[in-house]
Amino acid sequence: MRAWTCARTIRGLVTLRFNRFQILTHLLCLLPFVWLVAGYAADSLTADPIQAVTQRTGQTAIRLLLIGLALTPVNTVLGFKPARQVKRAVGLYAFFYALLHFLTFSVLDYGLWFYEILREMSEKRYLVVGLAAFLLLLPLAVTSTRGWKKRLGVWWKRIHRSAYVITALAILHYLWVVKADIRLPVVYALILLVLLILRLPPVKQWFLVRQPAWIEPVNQFFSR
Ligand code: HEM
Repeated sequence: MRAWTCARTIRGLVTLRFNRFQILTHLLCLLPFVWLVAGYAADSLTADPIQAVTQRTGQTAIRLLLIGLALTPVNTVLGFKPARQVKRAVGLYAFFYALLHFLTFSVLDYGLWFYEILREMSEKRYLVVGLAAFLLLLPLAVTSTRGWKKRLGVWWKRIHRSAYVITALAILHYLWVVKADIRLPVVYALILLVLLILRLPPVKQWFLVRQPAWIEPVNQFFSR
């Protein structure tokens, strides 16, 4: 096994080549984090900054989970090929924001006071569902590498299909968080339903023969 060296890591990063769509994806996924840090530094995160961070990281995580799931139909149904290349990155960004969300709750809000955290969980069902979604997301993030994909073989795809269940749990968590205005979680649930319908073979086939002609130049532009 080759020894790790700092120089080798830097060389690896320098030789990494991203296409336009990958660069755009990374920039867009980092934007909520930069916005959050800037808001925190400028002390402009409302009167309750911890709640603001919890809400923003939660919203970003759930949206990225949905976007990550949408990338497959964007490729298979619409024919936008660069979408395939960012699936792993978007999934990892979703995990990153979910981790920030969880740490905000357990470290910033509860100072890792486990007794209090457990007491809150026994009283609030939305916390149990949120934790279940987060714990299920953890193995997906760990096994997202090429090495794990090879090691797990056919199981990799089966395991990673659980992203649909995780997103459904996250939506249920959100639905139980909001008490009155359930419009946004319902919109998220409808998007998830559409994404599931787009996975059905006859639906996929219907779109496959109707891919728009303009998608080819778009693919070429973003693949550069
Ligand atoms: C994949 C995992 C998770 C996702 C995607 C997620 C997403 C969300 C979303 C969208 C909200 C609503 C934000 C808003 O009001 O605009 C929220 C709120 C919240 N979540 Fe999560 N969540 C996850 C896991 C967790 C975990 C593990 C915990 C703690 C154990 C947690 C604790 C909270 C709390 C305390 C709130 C705020 C409740 C309030 O405003 O009163 N979440 N989450």
